[in-house]
Amino acid sequence: MTILETFNKTTVIPDRYFKMTSSEMELRILEIKHQLKNRLFLPAHHYQKDEVVQFADVTGDSLQLAKISAENHEADYIVFCGVHFMAETADMLSGTNQTVILPDLKAGCSMADMADIHQTERAWKELSDIFGDSILPLTYVNSTAGIKAFCGKHGGATVTSSNAKAMVSWAFKQKERLLFLPDQHLGRNTAFDLGISLEDMAVWDPIQNKLIYDGENLEQIKVILWKGHCSVHEKFTVEQIDDFRKNQPEFKIIVHPECTHEVVRASDLNGSTHFIIETIKNAEPGTKWAVGTEMNLVNRLADQYTDREIVSLNPNLCPCLTMNRIDLPHLLWSLENIVQGRIENIISVDEETKKYALLALNRMM
Ligand code: 13P
Ligand code: SF4
Repeated sequence: MTILETFNKTTVIPDRYFKMTSSEMELRILEIKHQLKNRLFLPAHHYQKDEVVQFADVTGDSLQLAKISAENHEADYIVFCGVHFMAETADMLSGTNQTVILPDLKAGCSMADMADIHQTERAWKELSDIFGDSILPLTYVNSTAGIKAFCGKHGGATVTSSNAKAMVSWAFKQKERLLFLPDQHLGRNTAFDLGISLEDMAVWDPIQNKLIYDGENLEQIKVILWKGHCSVHEKFTVEQIDDFRKNQPEFKIIVHPECTHEVVRASDLNGSTHFIIETIKNAEPGTKWAVGTEMNLVNRLADQYTDREIVSLNPNLCPCLTMNRIDLPHLLWSLENIVQGRIENIISVDEETKKYALLALNRMM
């Protein structure tokens, strides 16, 4: 479902939730968690707000949450604190007796919305006309179930930022070249790290329905990058890094590979959300870190490791607005609906899509 479709479907939650104090909502959430016990499971992505994370049964990055959702068999209700594509993945990996709920349907992902299935089918036709049967589609898990199904149907797989290198290497054992959706930056950074030169990469522009390539010989193209990006991670710039290098050179720069290639190259370290957390956790006291990822996580790391200095690489910080849609009022509303037997915001992927999307997910898992 695109952001526009979700906005049209979204239920407005009753006003009274916005009139309650935070402590009233927190108390009620605790009561319901206690009442539902193991019938309720509450996973939360690391980019969620602290007010939500405090109630999480588990926190993780995209790969961890996908695995955990597949492993939990006992909860009747999985209230997913993350964004729409993550809840879809949880629905596909959980049992048929389990219901996945997203507290606010407006919690989409602008990157996932940059590749819709019609654009992808259209691109595939054009690219197959040029390259024949030599392309394998790979999609970042930050994509709709429809795109995952497309990849599954065409022999491809999903990837996350934690396993992108392994998956791209796998893809090259299957086919000569690959189409990487929807994040051009993760695709470019990963392929580059595996030794593929920028000259051997092209970009597919889904709006103009056109291949963008500066070289002479199309046969040289190894990776076709879908022209999508994360609106949060694209806000980190080389100028911000230069500024640290010049004025505060004692800071190490660590960024997520959803940042542009230039930013990743200029940084000291780059890796998935999980990698960033582990690196800072294992860093020496007294070390200083400028971090290029979502601000809820950066602020949480700064609060957690007070003997290290942890700041955002972007002085104006970068929140993910859609991740931030999940808040105390929406979480409480979802939980009260469950105890009242009136389930709202169910995320349910249709059987046909699920069948093929699971092929792509399982090739990765
Ligand atoms: P990971 O959780 O895979 O690092 O992805 C980051 C992200 O942008 C999630 O939406
Ligand atoms: Fe999507 Fe970027 Fe937000 Fe992750 S951080 S949910 S990729 S917009």
